[in-house]
Amino acid sequence: MTAAKDSNIALLTEEDAAAELARLAAEIAHHDKLYHQKDAPEVSDADYDALRRHNDAIEAKFPELIREDSPNKRVGAAPAEGFTQVRHSRPMLSLQNAFADEDVFEFFARIRRFLGLDAEAEIAVMGEPKIDGIAAALRYEDGVFVQGATRGDGVTGEDITRNLKTLDEIPERLSGEAPAVVEVRGEVYMTREGFFEMNRKREAEGAAVFANPRNAAAGSLRQLDPKITAARPLHFFAYAAGELSAPVADSHAGFLKRLDGWGFHTNPLARLCKSPEEVLALYREILEARPELPYDIDGVVYKLDRHDWQDRMGMVSRAPRWAIAHKFPAEQAQTVLHRISIQVGRTGALTPVAELEPITVGGVVVSRATLHNEDEIARKDVREGDTVIIQRAGDVIPQVVRAIEEKRPAGSEPFVFPTECPICGSLALRDEGEVVRRCTGGLICRAQAVERIKHFVSRNAFDIEGFGRKHVEAFWADKLIESPADIFRLRDHAEALESREGWGEQSAINLLESIEARRSISLDRFIYALGIRQVGEATARLLARQYGELAAWRAAMTAAAEERAGNREEAKKPELVGEAFAELCNIDSVGFSVADAITDFFAEAHNQTILDDLDAELTVVPVEAPASTSPVTGKTVVFTGTLERMTRNEAKARAESLGAKVAGSISKKTDYLVAGPGAGSKLTKATELGVEVLSEDDWLALISN
Ligand code: IVH
Repeated sequence: MTAAKDSNIALLTEEDAAAELARLAAEIAHHDKLYHQKDAPEVSDADYDALRRHNDAIEAKFPELIREDSPNKRVGAAPAEGFTQVRHSRPMLSLQNAFADEDVFEFFARIRRFLGLDAEAEIAVMGEPKIDGIAAALRYEDGVFVQGATRGDGVTGEDITRNLKTLDEIPERLSGEAPAVVEVRGEVYMTREGFFEMNRKREAEGAAVFANPRNAAAGSLRQLDPKITAARPLHFFAYAAGELSAPVADSHAGFLKRLDGWGFHTNPLARLCKSPEEVLALYREILEARPELPYDIDGVVYKLDRHDWQDRMGMVSRAPRWAIAHKFPAEQAQTVLHRISIQVGRTGALTPVAELEPITVGGVVVSRATLHNEDEIARKDVREGDTVIIQRAGDVIPQVVRAIEEKRPAGSEPFVFPTECPICGSLALRDEGEVVRRCTGGLICRAQAVERIKHFVSRNAFDIEGFGRKHVEAFWADKLIESPADIFRLRDHAEALESREGWGEQSAINLLESIEARRSISLDRFIYALGIRQVGEATARLLARQYGELAAWRAAMTAAAEERAGNREEAKKPELVGEAFAELCNIDSVGFSVADAITDFFAEAHNQTILDDLDAELTVVPVEAPASTSPVTGKTVVFTGTLERMTRNEAKARAESLGAKVAGSISKKTDYLVAGPGAGSKLTKATELGVEVLSEDDWLALISN
């Protein structure tokens, strides 16, 4: 170990460096294990840090030798090894975005509609800067900080308590009165000054620099050694509540005061506004102040102030209906477009991508931007060789805004969009009324197969840790994985994995372990992972809820596909297609075109084979009924007529949160029809079919039971 510290990197040959990196990887892994799992370190922190620095310096000089099991990669890529998972007691939500002023007016209008407020009722909304950092949840029990976690996928995060304890702005103990359990959520961030300073030091040490303060904050929090976190200039703004064992305020303004009282920093620019106009004035003030603020922000968050109204509004697809993030306008830059390449997605869609001369936009280096589709290229007349304006807003993919005609090189030609798949050579067709051209190669197209598998293992689907693009492509090329179920048979090829270039026993074990951890999966994730067109996460959840189990879902979808096959020509009337198809269409927000996409999928014999194959490898867990034991859990309900005590949207949202299924029309499967004044044909049909009819009051009595 002393030898390691003293060796002179400038004199290392490539061979020496490779051997040294291998030795360091093993030694550091050994110390990590003693420290984290056994809590019994053999070396001092200073010696450990010296090993890490030595490793970083060699990696910086020989980047091509960086190992798959490099200590730096291990921290980032395989958190399961270093951090324990924490299930959030309440999900950590994301926010819906607004870009234009109209979106803000619509936000107020939606609140008014949803809650049924009259035109005069005042709606107070808190506006606060959207901090560009990393969300964290802090749990206090009896006033003492006991656990801190990252957001993760919103349901499960990583336990980073020890790292968060090193932040001065996170109180160890809450000042004053607090309920037994208090979970405070907020943003860990780095100031720009702190970020520049840290990068200067890293550069001097030959370590890799971070791209922006946000990445630097994230990297600093995900250190396995809290000593490293402690040395980084991190700060914390508190802005939301997670679990609370007792209410602490009845408004967001009141809650922010409680946070201040407990000793947190809340953002000083937050202000309560009473109208869209006031909110927009605040937005402009904050936008103007932005360059002078010591930290990065990327918009303003608006939150409905009254907590009782927040509760009534609830959430939709992992975001609250009562809040919205108003993003700042995109940042633009000018650069040269070298080439237009065509990417093929998992559904065969051909997407044009601009390959650019790399340029920094809003702190991030951009070398590719989307051109959307062939009509967009034609409309903007963007050509290879053009100087173009590109823009980037938040975390959205950068886009080409337009070409600068004056700078166009002589002799350039308009871009001709291919009519063949650039990957497999199959014909690429554009359906009537569609903007997208698709490869017809299906299974024989490498791009589609690889993209489908990438989707399958992605975060919101099977979430297989450490299974990135490179692995998927390489395994496909080597015929180790040709269809999704092959992933779960990789364990039969452990030796082939270990002997791959750049791999070792440990990397193979790590990957196989991540795969095994996902052999059991919830039905909604399973459905989403299949990558059926038009079936996103929200629809997958609705399907899982409606049908409960994999076998039931497959049987129903197969029946619906058969009905549809016999009825291609029917007008858009689901009942005329058949019972199973109608049930599918009748799921709130599914509708005809989604139902068609699903039945198209089931009509393909090879998709059925894929499902059989997966079924043999996996345990697909039926959806958990929501924790509530409401009498309406699992029941199908239809609302009709005018509701007087709540809006239709509120009624639906409430029913769904209790585990009921809301349908659009009456069928034999309907359990309740909730009929308000003015109910018409649905009421007649329900009576005919003997469906129980409830008044709004009956319904409210039933659900408050
Ligand atoms: S509130 C239920 N307030 O933005 C509401 N979020 O896109 C939860 N963020 O994951 C979030 N500043 O990391 C809220 N003042 C602020 C915020 C903020 C930054 C982040 C947060 C969240 C993301 C949502």
